[in-house]
Amino acid sequence: MDPERSLTIVGGQWGDEGKGKVVDLLSAKYPVVVRFNGGHNAGHTVRFADRRFALHLVPSGVVHSDVTCYLAAGMVIDPPFLVAEIDRLHAQGIATAGRIFLSPRASLILPTHQAIDAAREQARGAARIGTTGRGIGPAYQDQAQRRGLRAYLLADRERLAVEARSLMAEHNRELASLAGAAAVDVDAAVATLVKAAKRLAPLLKEVGPELRHHAAAGRPILFEGAQGVLLDRWWGTYPYVTSSSCLPGMAAASCGISPSLLGPVVGVMKAYVTRVGSGPFPTELEDAVGDGLRERGAEFGTTTGRPRRCGWFDAVAARFAVLAAGIDAIALTKLDVLDSLDVIKVAVAYELPDGTHLDTVPADPELLAAVRPRYEERRGWQAETAGLTHATELPPAARDYLRYLERQVGVPIVLVSTGPRREETMVRGDHPIARQFAEVMGAGAARST
Ligand code: GDP
Ligand code: IMO
Ligand code: MG
Repeated sequence: MDPERSLTIVGGQWGDEGKGKVVDLLSAKYPVVVRFNGGHNAGHTVRFADRRFALHLVPSGVVHSDVTCYLAAGMVIDPPFLVAEIDRLHAQGIATAGRIFLSPRASLILPTHQAIDAAREQARGAARIGTTGRGIGPAYQDQAQRRGLRAYLLADRERLAVEARSLMAEHNRELASLAGAAAVDVDAAVATLVKAAKRLAPLLKEVGPELRHHAAAGRPILFEGAQGVLLDRWWGTYPYVTSSSCLPGMAAASCGISPSLLGPVVGVMKAYVTRVGSGPFPTELEDAVGDGLRERGAEFGTTTGRPRRCGWFDAVAARFAVLAAGIDAIALTKLDVLDSLDVIKVAVAYELPDGTHLDTVPADPELLAAVRPRYEERRGWQAETAGLTHATELPPAARDYLRYLERQVGVPIVLVSTGPRREETMVRGDHPIARQFAEVMGAGAARST
């Protein structure tokens, strides 16, 4: 593998598409994996054999012992949470010493950010965004407002304590004006932060120079996005979005590297759609079919445990995501979840209340909430695809569904996932990215962790 084979993996829907699984799979041949956006709002699941890992901040490649992991500048980091995640990995037998690095430019999440997140959601009432409550929005807000703390302070605990104390006092004054919000105990918060800083200071390293060095040494890089295009701060269903950019461009900006180092973009999408939290969701199924998808797909959040809203595959939103994010190929997950259905619907256009058609995701969420999807129906296969590993084993109706989605979305489906485990995956077609995946998976089969 040469550095030209770097890849950027992004979510192509509303998050939880199975990015963790895809990144883990590819990490068999990618010695470097980088998380570039978001924070511990993300929950990326990795499963193989009888093992299960839920990653929130650490890149999903960490499970492979020879992968070096970076957390880039565009991330927001809750220091005690990162320490706990690293400790959890150790407890699960994953040695991380010398292979997790944190950008000194990443922003810090403080307990007061979390309190403000919760209080603002409370204040929004029915209009709440349904955030993960992890302080993501307030931390990015402070970063944009140029009063946030950055990770380099972890190396200077005295200065960190002074600056954190001052910012949290400011936050507490803001909290006092929000109904029902209690002030955060600043002394206890500073003590916890300083303790975490001691553990994290040795991990600080500028990410851009490291990545340029890896690329020059011939090591390909995997960029692991969090959330998904429809949760992107600019291109998602604003304001029902997260507070970072989830597009590939964010990877270059967050790492401080040339976009030419990112490689092709793979969008991970489910064979249907889910969403956690509020916001418009045109193909949502609030009926027994939706309940069936939730049950069979175990659609409960990795981070918050909330039930995910489920619906049919939305080709309008998928085409929009492909164009906005420059997705070159799709990794389609959870095909097995559709196994028992006799009819599968796909939204191919949106209809507005005045009868006009729309073939894109509009900027205005009220407009999106008002659309009615126009569906086309596909025949289900009503046979087990769960666990299949070769495209030739798929029932004809499942193959037909994949070809149909490709035609609808306009880019090839190069990988199909048929179960939560690493091994329950197949490469599809002979697109150059599919061939690259095939090469990686050959190596993956021969290696464990
Ligand atoms: P991420 O945030 O994009 O990494 O996705 P999550 O890990 O939050 O959610 C995806 C869930 O689906 C996890 O529980 C995975 O173990 C599971 N999963 C991934 N691919 C498949 C698949 O093909 N079939 C099934 N049944 N489950 C899958
Ligand atoms: P991964 O990386 C799914 C959603 C929240 C909420 C909105 C804003 O696992 O795909 P935030 O806490 O970020 O301010 O919440 O974004 N959200 C996610 N939904 N998967 C995620 O991450 C998400 N991260 C945030 O549910 O609707
Ligand atoms: Mg997730």
